Amino acid sequence: MTMISSYSQDFGQLALNPNHGGGAQPTFIAAHQTSRSCAGEIAFGPFRLVPAQRLLLEGETPVRVGTRAMEILIALVEKPGVLLSKKELIARVWPNTHVVDENLKFQVAALRRALGDGRDGRRYLENSPGQGYRFVARVTGGAPLAAAAARPSGSSDRHNLPSRVFPLIGRSEVVAKIAEQTSRHRLLTIVGPGGIGKTSVAIAAAEQLMGVYEDGVWRVDMAAVTDEAAVAGAVADVIGATYDPGSPLAGLMSALRNRRMLLILDNCAHVVSAVATLAAAVLRRATGVHVIATSREPLQVEGECVHLLGSLESPPASAELDGVAALRYPAVELFVERARAGIGGFELRDEDAPIVGDICRKLDGIPLVIKFAATHVGVLGVRTLAGLLEDRLRLLTIGRRTALPRHRTMRATLDWSFGLLTPAEQTVFARLSVFAGGFTLAAAAAIAADETLRGNEIVDLVLKLTTKSLVCADVDAVEPQFRLLQITRAYGLEKLIGRGEHDAIFRRHAEHYCEQIEATARSSSKRSPMIAPALDFDNHRAAMAWASGPGGDPSIALRLTAAAGPPRLATLASEPRSLVKDGGLTRRAHG
Ligand SMILES: Nc1ncnc2c1ncn2[C@@H]1O[C@H](COP(=O)(O)OP(=O)(O)OP(=O)(O)O)[C@@H](O)[C@H]1O
Ligand SMILES: [Mg+2]
Repeated sequence: MTMISSYSQDFGQLALNPNHGGGAQPTFIAAHQTSRSCAGEIAFGPFRLVPAQRLLLEGETPVRVGTRAMEILIALVEKPGVLLSKKELIARVWPNTHVVDENLKFQVAALRRALGDGRDGRRYLENSPGQGYRFVARVTGGAPLAAAAARPSGSSDRHNLPSRVFPLIGRSEVVAKIAEQTSRHRLLTIVGPGGIGKTSVAIAAAEQLMGVYEDGVWRVDMAAVTDEAAVAGAVADVIGATYDPGSPLAGLMSALRNRRMLLILDNCAHVVSAVATLAAAVLRRATGVHVIATSREPLQVEGECVHLLGSLESPPASAELDGVAALRYPAVELFVERARAGIGGFELRDEDAPIVGDICRKLDGIPLVIKFAATHVGVLGVRTLAGLLEDRLRLLTIGRRTALPRHRTMRATLDWSFGLLTPAEQTVFARLSVFAGGFTLAAAAAIAADETLRGNEIVDLVLKLTTKSLVCADVDAVEPQFRLLQITRAYGLEKLIGRGEHDAIFRRHAEHYCEQIEATARSSSKRSPMIAPALDFDNHRAAMAWASGPGGDPSIALRLTAAAGPPRLATLASEPRSLVKDGGLTRRAHG
């Protein structure tokens, strides 16, 4: 079982300090795991303060406190009952910066609001007008107080990484590798499909690198940046650089030039060219700055090291599993961990282990989707959930309300990816969903081309879809093989139906594989039975299912039957129902 850490990406929040500027650090709102008590913890009223982590908990719930307000709280709690002058507090909270008293007043008021000071009999801070403040509540714990409360020295506190919420499962090796590669390559891009864990892995790797960069580790979430022109400004805002809004990149570059810093440019897919320009400028002109980017496609900048992030491993279909064996697979571990936290709780029984393994495999080992599915298992039970996965897109639209909007559902994730494609890429993506298994570039060209999109253009577009993580490639095979993840395929089929191309493309697919199977039958020796490559077998079955189904073409079904021969006929006829959801009813992929 591998546990590193995970982050408040879904459930915590990141906020920038309104007093930004002059090198001020962004505030982050802690959302730590809270069940343990920490060394140096100080308790007062219903609160626990962990100075070393700049963390305040009310019961088990993290309390939102900005960086400055937290510093004031720690200073006062360190010396309960002692009056700290305004000058003293300002020197502590804004070292080397001249600020007027109003700043202190503003931060103390914010702190009071966070603590509920003055409400329901709570009394923590006392103001001595014109002089300063003192902490008046009883405190316990905190030893060794001075050491724990001292602001961490060095660069390890110079970061805005979100705090831990859930364990990150099955990624320890990848995280260590990325951390190691980042010190050797100044630009590393983590590439993979939506929800595979790029952000989580980037943040975990960045956490390992905290303390390495004098000027800290800063994450810029591009998901919130809607315009390419705003990319450089977003980075400048996070590191506290001043810039001319007309040319933010210039201001950013002069701020970065002499810094030693790690930048995490997260969720870049929709602003990839502006991020690429920025990353190229950083590589050229800010030699002490390293960058980890996450995106569904590479930035394509010279010097970029690309790390393709794969799915979490699921048990193979053939595996005989009991609960213990199943939990060795990270996809199952994640499912069980999330299911336990869901409504109704969950324990993995031995008899359910193969079904859970099956669910994880069907969900392509994609953490985001596994999480969505697992949250329902407490209520539905393993068997019902497995059955409902037939209709997976519907199930997965029931996302958590607290999740980031882009993650609320898998559909939102896919809509987002699809919306970023060019019209030609959208067309080809939808048409590629006709393939039930893998496909070659030649098969893609044969089936997806038309009068406006020539075969060679299709090849180009398939490769582009591969770099955008919508198509998976196995380039190690003798002839490169491509495939769509199951969920991506189900989504593509919806698009194909929506475009009214479903029947035409399924016909073309059936004809193509009919010809292929006939050619193979002709060339195969009479003595040895025809064995179709595993790759095409799923496509042959899909072709048969369409041809023999309603709206199909019985003549193609006959040809397929004749070419495949009686032994294969039964299996060809058993193409499972499609997972496509259309208007509330499950349609057959071929119908
Ligand atoms: N290994 C893991 N263990 C536990 N949870 C994970 C793991 N990987 C990802 N998750 C969870 O899955 C969800 C999606 O992960 P993440 O946001 O990192 O994916 P992403 O690849 O960055 O997605 P996007 O392309 O939409 O930005 C998050 O809720 C994250 O906490
Ligand atoms: Mg992400």
